[in-house]
Amino acid sequence: MIFLKTDEEVELMRQSNILLGKTFAELAKVIKPGVTTAELDKVAYEFIMDNGGKPSCLGYEGFPATLCTSVNEQVVHGIPSDKVVLKDGDIISVDSCILLNGFHSDSAYTFPVGEVKPEVMQLLRTTKEALYLGIEQAITGRRLGDIGATIQTHCERAGYSVVREFVGHGIGRDMHEEPEVCNYGRRGNGIVLKSGMTLAIEPMICLGRRNVIIEEDGWTARTADRKPAAHYELSVCVRDGKADILSTFDYIKEVLGDRFI
Ligand code: MF3
Ligand code: CO
Repeated sequence: MIFLKTDEEVELMRQSNILLGKTFAELAKVIKPGVTTAELDKVAYEFIMDNGGKPSCLGYEGFPATLCTSVNEQVVHGIPSDKVVLKDGDIISVDSCILLNGFHSDSAYTFPVGEVKPEVMQLLRTTKEALYLGIEQAITGRRLGDIGATIQTHCERAGYSVVREFVGHGIGRDMHEEPEVCNYGRRGNGIVLKSGMTLAIEPMICLGRRNVIIEEDGWTARTADRKPAAHYELSVCVRDGKADILSTFDYIKEVLGDRFI
């Protein structure tokens, strides 16, 4: 069942997403060579708790942390660790959800660490572009497949591949609601989008082949060919004519300045 949100509920969701956006900005301040992913997790946990939120991932199906931190060939669901030290040239995908006011927010961002190879920077740019192009399709009367097809076309045209095993989703009082939001598909397929649907759109895009495997920890997904992958995610509300983007990268942008891509 898909829950359409009232305007009041959408505003509560926006508050949750703003806190999440500010949490990412706290991370942007400290992501540099030498920091561990466990340190990043602590920064996020404390910031969220200090601001009245609850980290939704912590304890979700046994996940042990506030953040999913996935480095380089890791695609999604990496577990923060004091053994994972970021180094110059890495990329780190951070994915997190917050419960605030009874509503979940969900966002992800792939950060470059220091100086990253141009071919990998291009992967990040294209993935972020694909996210925004997908969001442009999240309007009344379009179909779910229009979102996936748009993301897939943009990324495959650039020579990248789209992960199939993980998808976006509805979001609201539950972190994962219906429908599933695939990052691939066919234009004109799937359900018709309605005003008030709230969706987390989250392309996971690979520089090489799209196949993923799960590491020994039972959580971390990485590319089988060990080439890098990027992940950007925003929560949005479907509206007539233009999607309302509830999450925001603006606070990250304030911190990164001209390093923001
Ligand atoms: N943010 C993830 C998503 O987009 C949720 C993962 S939480 C975890 O669905 F606990 F499963 F890691
Ligand atoms: Co999500």
